[in-house]
Amino acid sequence: MKRIGILTAGGDAPGLNAAIRAAVRSAVGEHDLEVVGFRNGWAGVIEGDTTPLEVSAVQGILHRGGTILGSSGTDPYHAGGIGAVRRTLSDLALDGLIVIGGEGTMTAAAHLADDGLPVVGVPKTIDNDLSGTDVCIGFATAVQVATDAIDRLHTTAESHQRLMLVEVMGRSAGWIALGAGIAGGADAILMPERLFDLDQVAAGLRRRHLRGHSFSIVVVAEGAIPVEGTLELPKYPTDDRGFPRLGGIANAIGPRLAELTGFDTRVTVLGHVQRGGTPVAEDRIVATRLGRGAVDLFVSGGFGRMVALRGGEITSVPLADSAKVRPVPEELFAVAQVFFG
Ligand code: F6P
Repeated sequence: MKRIGILTAGGDAPGLNAAIRAAVRSAVGEHDLEVVGFRNGWAGVIEGDTTPLEVSAVQGILHRGGTILGSSGTDPYHAGGIGAVRRTLSDLALDGLIVIGGEGTMTAAAHLADDGLPVVGVPKTIDNDLSGTDVCIGFATAVQVATDAIDRLHTTAESHQRLMLVEVMGRSAGWIALGAGIAGGADAILMPERLFDLDQVAAGLRRRHLRGHSFSIVVVAEGAIPVEGTLELPKYPTDDRGFPRLGGIANAIGPRLAELTGFDTRVTVLGHVQRGGTPVAEDRIVATRLGRGAVDLFVSGGFGRMVALRGGEITSVPLADSAKVRPVPEELFAVAQVFFG
């Protein structure tokens, strides 16, 4: 009987448990494989920290947020190196790994595959920015959470005739900002794919209020970038990989927009609430399809590839191609722009 290891790495996302469940059910039920779970991402692989994943272990988890396996930002190339990963695979007599993660995880998985290890990837990140797939596990829920927040801010903004800024996650891509901005009816969206100039944003908002509106909603992606020299950004701490840990840019933008518009302004930073809790139906469906698709890929020997959803179909792409940021295309921003100002 073949044995397969599975792990969830990087930031968690709603729908991870649905993916684990689907992979286990498909592996055991459709292909007669044995599945071993690794705890806390690559850390579990390096330390050989495992949990058996029988069908009973994945019962009742479809709707649960987080990941029953735990996750971490551990990079195998920094922590224990490829030697430790190889040892674990051999000690546990594993025929391969299913790795569920985002850009950092797919980068590591691509390197492992280059080094000859049998690895299959599954795209997960609320940021939705992996290349080669139209959608990543967790994105739909993050957009729904942010949209719900905007709906709530709308009513209080209207009562008090205020300018409301809502900051959403997304790292260096604006997918959550754009999705929630369109669904929530944002009056402006600031996102990394387009430099913003607060003078222009303020002018648009003032025009809107001159036309009779008494409140406005501005969605700010945490990774939004001002035109050089127009706004001092917060000093971000860096994460283990040396990347800035974003969060709080709206706190710098809010007072400046208040000054430029004269509107009473409030700022809400949504933060990790976008990553927690119950996955929406769409994420459960996407995760179930991708989890099963990963097992099919494994069985057909598609190592070094990431299962993907493109044009509504399950397919796969090379891991190395997936680990690149996929920006929001201009034509999608144009849809949101129709409703600005
Ligand atoms: O990549 C997912 C994400 O939630 C980003 O949107 C955000 O910038 C980052 O992770 C937050 O990371 P952490 O959980 O380490 O604070």
